[in-house]
Amino acid sequence: MFQAARGTADILPSEQPYWRYVEKAITEITGLYGYQRIDTPVFEDTGLFGRSVGEYTDIVQKEMYTFEDLGGKSMTLRPEGTAPVCRAYLEHGMQNLPQPVKLYYLAPLFRYERPQAGRYRQHYQFGYEAIGEADPALDAEVIDMAWQLYRSLGLANLSLQLNSIGCKACRPAYLAALKDYYAGYDNLCKDCKARLEKNPLRLLDCKQASCQGMAESAPRGTEHLCKACTAHFSQLKEYLELLQIPFSLNHRLVRGLDYYTRTVFEIQPEEEGGQSTIGGGGRYDDLIEELGGKPTPGIGFATGIERIILNLKKQGLTVPETPGPRVVVAFMGEKAREEAIKLAARLRRTGISAIAAAGEKSLKAQLRQANALNVPYAVIIGEDEVKAGTVTLRDMAGARQETLASADLEERLK
Ligand code: HAM
Repeated sequence: MFQAARGTADILPSEQPYWRYVEKAITEITGLYGYQRIDTPVFEDTGLFGRSVGEYTDIVQKEMYTFEDLGGKSMTLRPEGTAPVCRAYLEHGMQNLPQPVKLYYLAPLFRYERPQAGRYRQHYQFGYEAIGEADPALDAEVIDMAWQLYRSLGLANLSLQLNSIGCKACRPAYLAALKDYYAGYDNLCKDCKARLEKNPLRLLDCKQASCQGMAESAPRGTEHLCKACTAHFSQLKEYLELLQIPFSLNHRLVRGLDYYTRTVFEIQPEEEGGQSTIGGGGRYDDLIEELGGKPTPGIGFATGIERIILNLKKQGLTVPETPGPRVVVAFMGEKAREEAIKLAARLRRTGISAIAAAGEKSLKAQLRQANALNVPYAVIIGEDEVKAGTVTLRDMAGARQETLASADLEERLK
């Protein structure tokens, strides 16, 4: 027997109400903040991700689903959504639109990770990008939107972690300070030894206990910001206070993708911390240029739908049921079968959801099926009803029955 691939999941009908609930909140919040939907292809030129996410990140080094297509081109199932959106922004000349261009997506992403609770090899992300504006007011708005999304879903006890990792001008000196600092330690884990050369920022969020102590007293990014980045960061903090969004400064927050500049942030369940981040984002002021455009700032955020649902369940939040069908049309005898098929079709055309019983089941078995489907009504047609042009309407909960003219059924049901 085949099974779903490791790290992937079927989203069964019983789970769908959670997905619909989250999607509805997404539609509302994106409308409120003026974002338009974009859907990009599931696979892209492999080079796009090395160029954007970064050659030395875990995502690019260890987690991509990369394959050669039949034309010999290297393709990758998208491991994240920001780079494809920026690619589309450039490809479709969106720099000529009024800026910032605000785009959102809800799409499956692929990362070859070690599966665990809330970590999959295919997961769905809601993400949004505001491209073309550097004002810290936009950083605050992007963070506010994430915060309000979770609030509208009813999630509580979340914490917003905030940091600034500087820009092209000030980052090199900071990286040098980090390298200097870590040079004094010879007990770095294997991964961090490699990161020290290629990606020293990532030493700060190493999950190894031995490295965490060192990271705690490492030089802080916010103490190495240039004047412009310092001003940007303090403006952002002021705006967040204005919007009454509580935040914690976290100098070890650097994020796992290399395109970030200045603002980085994550939203985490308070009691669990960084291991179970439900959403994260930040500014990427050099990314569009890196992809071949003219210098264009950008900022965005993304959150995993599975992680949102995990937290909804953990917090005991219930979601509205998806309404099931209202009527089962049951029948006795061949003549009545045709009538049942016609009647079910007639009901649907007037907007009443109906299931026509099928097969060779007894009336009792058809009614048992109606019970199992939890429909409020069954309509029963036998030979007598066919002759008389009537139907029997059964109220399933009260087990009461009445006979009425078939032509009056829609009116009665409404
Ligand atoms: P990310 O932090 O890699 O950021 O992913 C964003 C969110 O996607 C995570 O916080 C988590 O909720 C969810 N997620 C990531 N990987 C998995 C996984 N393997 N299984 C389940 N959920 C997962 C980005 O991808 C950036 N593109 C976000 C961004 C948008 N930055 C700027 N704009």
